[in-house]
Amino acid sequence: MITEKLDCIDSYDDAVCRAAEILKRGGIVAVPTETVYGLAASALDGNAIKKVFAAKGRPQDNPLIVHISNMEMLKTVARDIPDLAYTLAEHFWPGPFTMVLSRADLVDKSVSAGLDTVAVRMPSEPAIRDIIKTSGLPLAAPSANISGAPSPTAAVHVISDLDGKIDAVVCGNDCAVGVESTVVAVEKNRVRLLRPGAVTAEQLRAVAGDVTVDSAVLAEPEKDKPVSSPGMKYKHYAPKTETFLVEGDGEKFAEFVNARENCVALCFEGEADKICRPKICYGNGEDESTLARGVFAALRHCDDIHAGAVYVHAPSKTGVGLAVYNRLIRAAGYKVIKL
Ligand code: TXA
Ligand code: MG
Repeated sequence: MITEKLDCIDSYDDAVCRAAEILKRGGIVAVPTETVYGLAASALDGNAIKKVFAAKGRPQDNPLIVHISNMEMLKTVARDIPDLAYTLAEHFWPGPFTMVLSRADLVDKSVSAGLDTVAVRMPSEPAIRDIIKTSGLPLAAPSANISGAPSPTAAVHVISDLDGKIDAVVCGNDCAVGVESTVVAVEKNRVRLLRPGAVTAEQLRAVAGDVTVDSAVLAEPEKDKPVSSPGMKYKHYAPKTETFLVEGDGEKFAEFVNARENCVALCFEGEADKICRPKICYGNGEDESTLARGVFAALRHCDDIHAGAVYVHAPSKTGVGLAVYNRLIRAAGYKVIKL
């Protein structure tokens, strides 16, 4: 398969129309969203969904998120929608926010990997919204990377992972948020945070009151126990280079990596001078949104340097920092060093 490159910066309308056309005839297309690039297929077409799982090498029991462009579409993909879900939608849609609801029959079972629930998100990025509108289809879209690798926040990341395996890639700007959407389960009057993202636990509490944070957000799920979201149990976001997450202040972090050989440090801006090993700054340690934007590209870059190991300076767990921390413990296979 030759992957078509659709330039959505210089020829936006053409790229949107061509992507919609490919999706309508059952193809699979990588599309920019405000979080990460997604690999889209019609959520109504089991055959197209099969191609998504195959291209990514995704485990069959890990369900996909369905993307919609308006509230009418919500009613076609989910049923028995609780009032709380409408309240949350008013606050956080369009945006980096996903709700797990009861699945409507129209959505192909394979999207939900056999579950009777469906994860739904209304993104804010114009490219994916316009492709949904033009095709008239709700789009199932996991992140457009090889399963297990760092998520793609630029078109080049998608091409490096999936060129030749998908029909087309819509090449747009780098993703503004940089980590995947917040995923919550909405059960009548309760909200459970399954995956942290740019819509923070603090923001959710302000709207929904009581919000439980699933134990798998900050710790390794216990082996052989059922998980609330299948994605929790898989190794994720990891570069090929062995990764360690290191907690401590800037001085201690620099001292720690300087005492190691054949490694690369993923540090904060302002720390580079103290580190005498190869280093990549992934953002400003005091502004977690910059770390979210930079973390996946930095993890990918580690493989280009061919270091023996990467030591990542851990972000704070507040705000969107919780999402960055959540991705990094998985990238590190839960190897956390506390200084
Ligand atoms: O920001 C995002 O959400 C991006 C962009 C492309 O929209 N998509 C994304 O998809 O991150 P993916 O497949 O990489 O992650 C989907 C997550 C997985 O952890 C999966 O287990 C969970 O959502 N999920 C999907 N459907 C679910 C369901 N019915 N119940 C529980 N968890 C579900
Ligand atoms: Mg993913």
